[in-house]
Amino acid sequence: MRMSAAVLALSCAAALGACAVNFEDHAPPAPAIDAQGLVDARQGGMAMSVGALGAVSAGYDKKAAPRSYRLPAEGLAKFARSLSALFDGRTAGVPGTEASPAIWSDATGFAARTAQYRDATGALLAAIDAGDDAGIAAALASTKAACKACHDTYRTQ
Ligand code: HEC
Repeated sequence: MRMSAAVLALSCAAALGACAVNFEDHAPPAPAIDAQGLVDARQGGMAMSVGALGAVSAGYDKKAAPRSYRLPAEGLAKFARSLSALFDGRTAGVPGTEASPAIWSDATGFAARTAQYRDATGALLAAIDAGDDAGIAAALASTKAACKACHDTYRTQ
């Protein structure tokens, strides 16, 4: 006996439906996070940023070869790119954090501050690679301004 096109179409649709249900049944669980570990990573990275920024500033001030202070600048740029992951909403309220709840209640504003910082540290690294003294000076100033702009609103101390 030959199946009609309509019956065939119907059974295909049913099979696809079964497939979709199957996918949902086997959806992977949301990955667990280590909230304390993320808070330690961001506090440690922030603390080390003081030294990294100081090393870049000192190198620039004494007119050292830009490549001699490229590594700390690269660290700042990469750390800047990690901030949205480190400030996962599930880390709110971990004991010892100085992260303001505004980071999550005003996610758009915080994203603007992380983008400002990412752009400033990216420009700093690019200017170092180009050996562009004026560019390094400008990007150092905008990087420091980006630290302060974020802390003013999103850090509690
Ligand atoms: C986009 C926002 C943002 C930017 C940009 C930013 N910070 Fe922070 N910083 C924070 C927040 C929020 C905390 C609190 C983190 C916590 O306690 O969980 C913090 C904490 C710190 C701390 C304390 C770390 C500790 O041991 O508890 C230092 C030091 C610091 N930042 C330095 C800097 C420096 C230097 C820069 C720039 C080179 C910078 N930050 C850029 C948001 C920012």
